[in-house]
Amino acid sequence: KLIIIVKIKNIIMNDYDDYVKHSKKITDVKMSMSVLSWDQETKMPKNGSKFRAQQLSTLAEISHELSTHKKYGDLLNHLNSNENLSNDQKRNVYLSLKAFNKAAKYNSEFIIEESKLISNAFQKWRLAKDNNNFSIFEDSLTKLVDLRIKECEILGYDKHPYDALLNQYEPGLTTAQVENIFSDVKEFLVPFINKISKSNKIDDSFFYKKYSHDKQWDFGIELLKNMEYNFNSGRQDLSAHPFSTHFSPDDARVTTRIDEDNLSEMIWSCIHEGGHALYEQGILPENYGLPLGETISLGIHESQSRLWENNVGRSIEYWNCNYDSLKSIFPNQLSDVSVNDFYKAANSVKPSLIRTNADELTYHLHVLIRFEIEKELIEGKISVKDLPSIWNHKYKEYLNITVPSDSLGVLQDIHWSHGSFGYFPTYTIGSFYAAQFFNQAKVENPNLLNDIKDGNNKNLLKWLREKIHENGKRYDAHVLCEQVTGEKLDFRFFKKYVIEKYSNLYSI
Ligand code: CO
Repeated sequence: KLIIIVKIKNIIMNDYDDYVKHSKKITDVKMSMSVLSWDQETKMPKNGSKFRAQQLSTLAEISHELSTHKKYGDLLNHLNSNENLSNDQKRNVYLSLKAFNKAAKYNSEFIIEESKLISNAFQKWRLAKDNNNFSIFEDSLTKLVDLRIKECEILGYDKHPYDALLNQYEPGLTTAQVENIFSDVKEFLVPFINKISKSNKIDDSFFYKKYSHDKQWDFGIELLKNMEYNFNSGRQDLSAHPFSTHFSPDDARVTTRIDEDNLSEMIWSCIHEGGHALYEQGILPENYGLPLGETISLGIHESQSRLWENNVGRSIEYWNCNYDSLKSIFPNQLSDVSVNDFYKAANSVKPSLIRTNADELTYHLHVLIRFEIEKELIEGKISVKDLPSIWNHKYKEYLNITVPSDSLGVLQDIHWSHGSFGYFPTYTIGSFYAAQFFNQAKVENPNLLNDIKDGNNKNLLKWLREKIHENGKRYDAHVLCEQVTGEKLDFRFFKKYVIEKYSNLYSI
């Protein structure tokens, strides 16, 4: 009897090993694509783009073939009904099967049409933006929206077609939940920001003096080291738009952009991307190639970048630690700026046109506007040709500003030209998760703010690693949130953080 059991176990383990091997192969291809994309954004000479596009599309095809291979699907279905696997093994199989079933829903016609539409829309969007003329983009965007409406039906949904798109980026998130979150945002943030606008007398003009490129670069590296970013498992380069990427937990990279006329841009984008990369460096290497070796969702990813950027990187404790060093690098520019002046300027709230330059409060109104527009586009309630006027109307309503041109308005973001609908809400959700996680980190580590003041971020990172990073995809986002904080995602943590911080800053 015993021999038979051992034999059965061996067969099961062989199947599981086969699955692991195949899954790693898919990941190897995807990570190789990431290396090529990283190179494209940072190092590649101009003329390299034609063949690079071809190389990337070949790898995408190979990855799709491997991911939808019939034998792989059979193996996953077989393993999925196997009760002898450990919980982690079951979770891996369950998530891989889910991904397999999803990939199988798309036929190659759809994939080809999608990639054609996107490459066309991206070119038209750039042209439209350069010429400040939305009509150049209108036709391609209309086709992309139609494609996404079709995709919602292909993927299926319970209540709202937009749920299917949200799920691509934030599994389990529904349109109704996002509507709830944004109704809290509207109710609290709109009047709160109004109050601040009336009393904002913070001077942040020193950010816009001349700050040399090389010295900014050195300071950025110092900040990354201070957050315990591991340069043996990552590196920083320059790119047109800051981003982070990873090829394994042992190689998680960041990029930054340096504007000599604006110090603030480098500082907080550096910390933001560093937060993303710390999450990737915290994934367990033994899970490479498996779902447990991947981050949960865009919302949780963004929670990690926002936690470092805002909850840590815009706190007085953080600058009590780092300001002396900054001032010694730029003694002339900052000669009459105290650490308190600097802290205030870092948290100046002002309604503005461009989402990526927005402060941590008005930011969510930018996202709200995009969410409302996307939802109504997918519902078929509004049409693409009316977007400029709808956009401008909403900016007046929520932020009380007049949009002077489409380039600074409806054409500012790259997302729609990439066909990304359902992505924006993850930014806001990330900030709210960040507030809730950071609150919990402080409860469990009463000395946390003092540690940050002393330049010691080891305890915070250790907490994030154990509670969040090392789990990979072991839990869905909402389950993780309950595990870590004892309750579901709740806006009141963000609200509390905002009231405590900004009432003080603005004496309101
Ligand atoms: Co981010």
